[in-house]
Amino acid sequence: MEIRDNLQIKTFAEYKKTYQKSIEEPEAFWKTVAEKFTWTKKWDKVLSADFKKPEVNWFQGATLNITQNCLDRHVKNHPNKNAIIWEPNDPNEESRHITYKQLQVKVCNFANVLKQNGIEKGDRVCIYMPMIPELAIAMLACARIGAIHSIVFAGFSSKAVASRINDSGCKMLITANDYYRGRKSIKLKEICDEALENTPSIETVIVYRRTVNPTSMKEGRDKFWFDELQKAYAECDPVEVEAEHPLFILYTSGSTGKPKGMVHTTGGYMVGTTYTFQNTFQLNEKDIYWCTADIGWITGHSYIIYGPLCAGATTVMFEGVPSYPDFDRFWEIIEKFKITHFYTAPTAIRSLAKQNVKHVEKHNLESLKVLGSVGEPINEEAWHWFNDNVGKTKCPIVDTWWQTETGSIMISPLAGVTATRPTFATLPLPGVQPAIMDDERNEIEFDGKVAEGKLTIKAPWPAIARTIWNNHQRYKETYFSAYPGYYFSGDGAYRDAVGNYRITGRVDDVVIVSGHNLGTAPIENAINEHEKVSESAIVGFPHDVKGNALYAYVILYDHNDATNSLKQEIRDMVSKNIGAIAKPQKIQFVTELPKTRSGKIMRRILRKIAANQTENMGDTSTLLNPDVVEEIQKKKV
Ligand code: WTA
Repeated sequence: MEIRDNLQIKTFAEYKKTYQKSIEEPEAFWKTVAEKFTWTKKWDKVLSADFKKPEVNWFQGATLNITQNCLDRHVKNHPNKNAIIWEPNDPNEESRHITYKQLQVKVCNFANVLKQNGIEKGDRVCIYMPMIPELAIAMLACARIGAIHSIVFAGFSSKAVASRINDSGCKMLITANDYYRGRKSIKLKEICDEALENTPSIETVIVYRRTVNPTSMKEGRDKFWFDELQKAYAECDPVEVEAEHPLFILYTSGSTGKPKGMVHTTGGYMVGTTYTFQNTFQLNEKDIYWCTADIGWITGHSYIIYGPLCAGATTVMFEGVPSYPDFDRFWEIIEKFKITHFYTAPTAIRSLAKQNVKHVEKHNLESLKVLGSVGEPINEEAWHWFNDNVGKTKCPIVDTWWQTETGSIMISPLAGVTATRPTFATLPLPGVQPAIMDDERNEIEFDGKVAEGKLTIKAPWPAIARTIWNNHQRYKETYFSAYPGYYFSGDGAYRDAVGNYRITGRVDDVVIVSGHNLGTAPIENAINEHEKVSESAIVGFPHDVKGNALYAYVILYDHNDATNSLKQEIRDMVSKNIGAIAKPQKIQFVTELPKTRSGKIMRRILRKIAANQTENMGDTSTLLNPDVVEEIQKKKV
């Protein structure tokens, strides 16, 4: 697979034809795609799946190593092409350009570090690092030897890291001593040390020195990245793995309970992410692609690393934040590297749109050809601002709908090939069959009329997560029980009369804050850990930059304790247990929560109060305590 080959759809008619074929003959369609890749052994069967069980297998019988596809193949064809261009947080520090050849050497070298520390195929390795090339190197090194990486976003707290390490029994932790994000210094190793007090499965910690600051190291357990590299060979043959061998685990919030370790496997994920990358963004050989996500999220896994590198593209990684040293940092980077494809999130667009437009105008953005958006619905205003000021109305915006669970882009325009429409993710990619379900749980078939309901997918696609680590039952319950035979996304959707989809947002207790999925239950659990708190309920409310922010309703054992300093303690508690991104923006102390007779909190009502939409509270007659609604409303913060 190369960026441009005959799989890249070039016209709308071709899209229609390809889509049709992908639905009528999925196996023949995906076989043609898969044949573009390097396999050590071809499959016996392209697809065997049953959403009722649920069980999904792609390319059964095949073996491969994904890094042969991301690295070795391109080293043969274009060794000196840049694989990764890295821009540091501090604009005065040098950027780094790493060619495919150099990346291959670094990955192999580090793969030997993993081996000499006892890591083997199937072992889990936790990676908790800032956005530096070594994060990419560490993940690819795991893939090189068939170890399973579990990347934890570096903004998460020590408790969050520990619980993820323990859930999947990681043997090794790879981290950095500390780093800067904007003006903030983050002491990552110290956070790790706290986490490591409760992670018995960890045998080795590899520490990359991002700064010269001193670092505490535990004898026998902690080793410096560079010291280990000195001892390691530079060559490392790729380990052959089965197509369904897990490539990585990535945790995502659920509406209840602890985070779900979504398991992605190798063959299907590679084929799915690369094909969708190639077709959604429509890159040319010399294009420079930049996705601003963090690799700690699925967007970074699929569309900073695996998709772009398998396609042989040049992918940009940025360590910093859009506001440092000033609000023009994104635009400065686009100018600096002559970025052609720029993929970001609505929350970033909204926060930059608030700044003086001079920040954008100061920079030459003529290199841009395609813009992308992901993570949450993009509102009309942000869409137009992005289109007018950044794309100068000549760059198609691909609004890509997908999820950690789907692994690859599901619904999106193909840049310059299919039409865009503000606030619509538009049409499904080839191989993706969305369906809208009504309140009776029946599919609303497409018949040229508009439809609205819950968004499901009715047939397997290659990059779907295969299970939840150690909990297949939860996988079944979460995604395959609401609509037997269908994958349920947890999102609502509207479909227009020609078949374009618009995502209307989550329909469960997941709130998307600044593009990050946050389950309300774990945040409530964190708040409830405070000794003065008896109960709490979290809901989302609209926020003009973050999309949504969190509103916490908290009941105390003793209402006299209701003070601002207690609010601060509650926020700190959330920060410590989950991470700063989960801190509630507003906290209201209440004496009671509206509950149904069966004791279930009526979040619908709390959501309306938080959003100031109280003219129609809906039916409150089923409440055990209807009076409380007025009381809460009166004291709203
Ligand atoms: C939301 C991110 C509207 C959606 C790749 C989904 C979107 C959740 C879009 C998954 C979009 C993502 N338009 N909503 N283009 N993209 N979402 O797992 O609610 O972090 O279910 O994956 O983000 O978030 P996740």
